[in-house]
Amino acid sequence: MSKPFRFIEPYIPSIEEITPHLQQAYELGHFTNFGPACKKLEHEIENKFAIESYNAITVTNATAGLQIVLSIIDVRDKYVVIPDFTFPATFQAVLAAGGIPILCDIDLATSELDYHSLKDALDTHDNVAAVIHVRCFGIRRDVTNIIHLCHSRDIPIVFDSAAGLGDVRQGKYGSDYGEFEVFSLHTTKVFAAGEGGVILTPNTYADKLREATNFGLQPDRTFVDGINAKMDEFRCAVGLATLNNLSTIIDMRTKHVKESMRILSQSSCIDFFQVGMEQTWSNFPIFSSKHMGDELQNIFEEHGIITKRYYYPLMSKGYKGLANFIAHSSKNAEELENRILCIPVYSRAVEPSFFTALENIVESLE
Ligand SMILES: Cc1ncc(COP(=O)(O)O)c(C=O)c1O
Repeated sequence: MSKPFRFIEPYIPSIEEITPHLQQAYELGHFTNFGPACKKLEHEIENKFAIESYNAITVTNATAGLQIVLSIIDVRDKYVVIPDFTFPATFQAVLAAGGIPILCDIDLATSELDYHSLKDALDTHDNVAAVIHVRCFGIRRDVTNIIHLCHSRDIPIVFDSAAGLGDVRQGKYGSDYGEFEVFSLHTTKVFAAGEGGVILTPNTYADKLREATNFGLQPDRTFVDGINAKMDEFRCAVGLATLNNLSTIIDMRTKHVKESMRILSQSSCIDFFQVGMEQTWSNFPIFSSKHMGDELQNIFEEHGIITKRYYYPLMSKGYKGLANFIAHSSKNAEELENRILCIPVYSRAVEPSFFTALENIVESLE
């Protein structure tokens, strides 16, 4: 049997594409601590992805980015609402910032934080210092209702958009409400640098956030809350090289998703979330009305396609550490946890045998 189709095929720019972005670092002998490639990457991300009043701050990864944003908000010993359906990074960032997670339910139609569950949690618990809205699978939706709800209670909102950076056809990030958006540049993402992350922040918080990435050090050598979350020149150079190819990468991924959708929609039991095609397409989640996620995963594997169950398990079931958290509500999250399957999306032209395998899967499901 031929090699199975991998779930993730990272896009790695060539060495020739990366090295020009390191030239200044070599000339100046400046390899980290806000060097030239770091400044350039932040500048280019700001220009491409953020509205005028926002800044980009690079970080070592999205988990550190979320932690830093939460510590600037100051969530210590206070509650932070997050969805139960997310990757452990969201939960861990709250703990690392000294907060207590409240796990809320999700909307079945979107897999994202449910408005009513969030409202109920805010009505039930005083002392909520922040809300993290996870843009699941990097899909970008209009969540004005959630932003308005948080704004009406004066509670800062942080978007965990780990898989979302890449596409701006829906417009630039940021608004007058002052939300934070945190992205990952991990190798599993579309805009990848190996490891890395970016915070898009209202510019009034930029200096504080940058200090927090550098141990919280102040000019007089005293220090506030912070960690070491600086992205070094080598990773920034990879990020810059990837950025140059991003629109081609997203075109390829969109083509791949469109053709997979066309084939899978011939099955009476496969369904997708209703979203426009103008996405980064970091992931392509599907679900079946007849099969649980693990059954569907086995069927794909039998046909040579490796898939992944995201986000599984729920935070309320997966966390085995000792910290306190509140499980507020999870009914819909429990339903989706067992159904969703993410199938491969590639940043290159896809061989016809991938689509033949999908056709065979559709046939075997009927
Ligand atoms: C929803 C979510 N948040 C945060 C992260 C963490 O990103 P990083 O690996 O950059 O820390 C991930 C990783 O995939 C994620 O899926």
